[in-house]
Order: sequence, then C-alpha cells, then structure tokens
Amino acid sequence: MKSSLSRRSFLRDSVLAAGAAGIGMPALALADAAPTAAGEVPRVQIGANEYPDGPSPAALKAIVEIAPQGGRYLFESQLELLGELSRQLGVGMDHLMPYAGSTEPLDYAMLAFTSPQKPLVTADPTFESGWRAAERNGARVVKVPLRKDWSHDVQAMCAAEAGAGVIYICNPNNPTGSATSRKDIEYALAHKPAGSVLVVDEAYIHFSDSVVSAVDMVAAGEDVVVLRTFSKLYGMAGIRLGYAVARPDLLDRLKYYSINSLPVTAVAAGLASLRDPQLVPARRARNTRLREDVVAWLAARGYACSASESNCFMLDVKRPAQDFIDAMATHGVMVGRSWPGFPTQSRITIGTPADMARFKEAFALVEAGKQGPLPVPKRQRLAERYVQQTGVQLS
Ligand SMILES: Cc1ncc(COP(=O)(O)O)c(C=O)c1O
Repeated sequence: MKSSLSRRSFLRDSVLAAGAAGIGMPALALADAAPTAAGEVPRVQIGANEYPDGPSPAALKAIVEIAPQGGRYLFESQLELLGELSRQLGVGMDHLMPYAGSTEPLDYAMLAFTSPQKPLVTADPTFESGWRAAERNGARVVKVPLRKDWSHDVQAMCAAEAGAGVIYICNPNNPTGSATSRKDIEYALAHKPAGSVLVVDEAYIHFSDSVVSAVDMVAAGEDVVVLRTFSKLYGMAGIRLGYAVARPDLLDRLKYYSINSLPVTAVAAGLASLRDPQLVPARRARNTRLREDVVAWLAARGYACSASESNCFMLDVKRPAQDFIDAMATHGVMVGRSWPGFPTQSRITIGTPADMARFKEAFALVEAGKQGPLPVPKRQRLAERYVQQTGVQLS
C-alpha cells in the first residue's frame, strides 16, 4: 500500500489549497518532510504503534543473509531461536511456543480458555483482539474500566465473574500505554477465580522502565500465559514474530488450534535482535525521551494524555476524535484511532524525532482551526471500509 505522496503533487496541492484557504504554508511540514530518492514526501505514520525505524541493522543483515534459504523450513533455526529465548527468559524450551506475531496465541488463548460458560474479564479500554476471539467462541466479554491512574483495576477484575475463564491484562496497556504494578499482577494471580487463566500481554514491555514481567510466574508453574511480540520495539510488525510462554499443559491447549512453521526471515531477524544487547535500552531511551517531550508540550497547551510507559498514549483532543484524525491527515500526519466509549481521545504513537516535530506543527495548525492542503487520504478510507466489511479493527 502506498503511503507517500509525489513531491510534485504535494507541493502543488499544498500551494493551491493554502492559497485557496488563505493560510500560510506549514513551513516545517515541508522542511522536515525530506523527499525520498523517488522524489516523494512521506506521510507521518504515527497511528499503528509500530517502531518507526523498522528492524535493527543487525536484523536486516540477517534477513538478507537468510533469504536465499527461504525455500527450506530450517527447523534448526527455529530451535536456535527457542534456545536463545529459553536462556534469556529462564524457562525451559517446552514452556515456549513461537508464532508469526502474538495476535495468534492471544486469540488461541481465548479460544482455549473461554467458553459460553467461562467469560473473558478484560480492562476497558484495552487491545480488543482477544475480545473478538472470545466472542467468536460464544463467551461473554466482561469489561472493567481502568482506574483513574489508567492501571488495571485488578480487584474489580477478579471480583467481576466467579466463573471467568480468562483474566486479560495488557501490561503496558494498549492504547493508554499505562503500567500495572507487580503488586497488582500478584494480586490478580492470587485472587483470580478458581480455574481461570491469567493472560498477561507484554507486547510493549520493552518500552517500560517499571513493568516487571510475569514470566517468572510461568516458571513457578502458575496458571499464567505470557505473550510477547517483535512487532513493537523490535520494529518487526511486517516481518511477523511473537511467542507464548506458559506451562506445557497450557501451551498444549493453544497448540490444539495450530502448530506451524515460521518465516525463516522472521526467525533470523528475531535471533539477531535478541543477541544485540544495546537494541532494547537504546530504543527504549529514545522512545521515552520523545514521549516525555511531546506529552509535556501537549500539557503546556492544556491537553491531557494518559500516563504512558509505552510507545503510545491517549490524547484527549477535546472534540470528536475522528474530526481531529481527519484534520491531522490533511497536514500529512496520520494519528491513531479512537476507542469506543472514548470519543474525544485519539491514540498517538511515538515516531522519529522528525515525525514528532511534524506532529506538533500539524497539531498547532489544527488547534488554530487550519485545515491542511491534503485530502483525507485513501488509505484511511480503505481502512474504514475494511473495518466495516470485516468487523476487524486494525491494530
Ligand atoms: C497489546 C497487543 N498485543 C498484541 C498485539 C499483536 O501484535 P502482533 O500480532 O503484530 O504481534 C498488538 C498489536 O498491536 C498489541 O497492541
């Protein structure tokens, strides 16, 4: 899908529309939007919780080197990946199952542990992929609002349904980026309904300074499934790699739905990323710096953001979020969607320093009521059509 504009048409449309609207051109938007080799000005994509730099240089090198062997399954590489994860996480290889991303094991966990008699208990707002899988399974989805500080209300979640099949905790949470403390995760484990499974989604854990993983609970033999992905900090959303960590008997329940081979490129990139000790701390530090800067900038203008330890936060734009999203798109800045029940909030993902500079500039123009020169792009309309036709929300 093409997500950039031709530089010539960007300039032409910008000048025409700016002239027609009687507004000055957004200087930084053009200055910062360095044209690509093909002469195109890229849009700023800060709506899907991706890492803007993509795979690390070591991962890219590994992908190129392994690609010629793409005609093989290369089971030995998959074993090597499991061995590396096993060493780093301190669990046996029989406690690990890799997948092409973590959506798959999340959905399988819902299919395995919920039923018409065993509801899913979840926070609201949170990542809804598991909700849809539970609903497909005939399970009720019991939504418990986040606390005022945006953390999971584990007391209310554990008390919500005596017959719950799954307690789902996304930590840090998507879309708020908020952290739930170790004490609260321990509370959830100690007080969850008998027979239920605690599913802890750690897709964004690498961005956080304070979140403590629940992997040790798996190692201790508890009813816990931990989910991880390389789609976020590792920049591999389009390469596809993730994994589940759980007791072997719980993993067997997931494996019932599918056991599959992995893309060799994803395995090679994952291994190279895991073996780079600088990657997580360096990307985490940059993300934190940029997030704190933009949140402070917004606060100074009177806009509240969720307390995030991740690469995204919810921003209350004090108007219908869809109007804001469309207005930002006319300046070439693609921000994230809103969540049902939070109609004035849009999710903002941290991009590159240049992306965040363009975000600020576009935000100030939108705040001043200035429409940008660009049409609301096709990609967004396509995404809306996709959501309408399939009922599936994108990221
Ligand atoms: C909380 C959470 N879990 C899991 C995923 C799944 O990501 P993927 O299937 O790309 O690994 C996402 C993606 O946005 C997410 O936000």
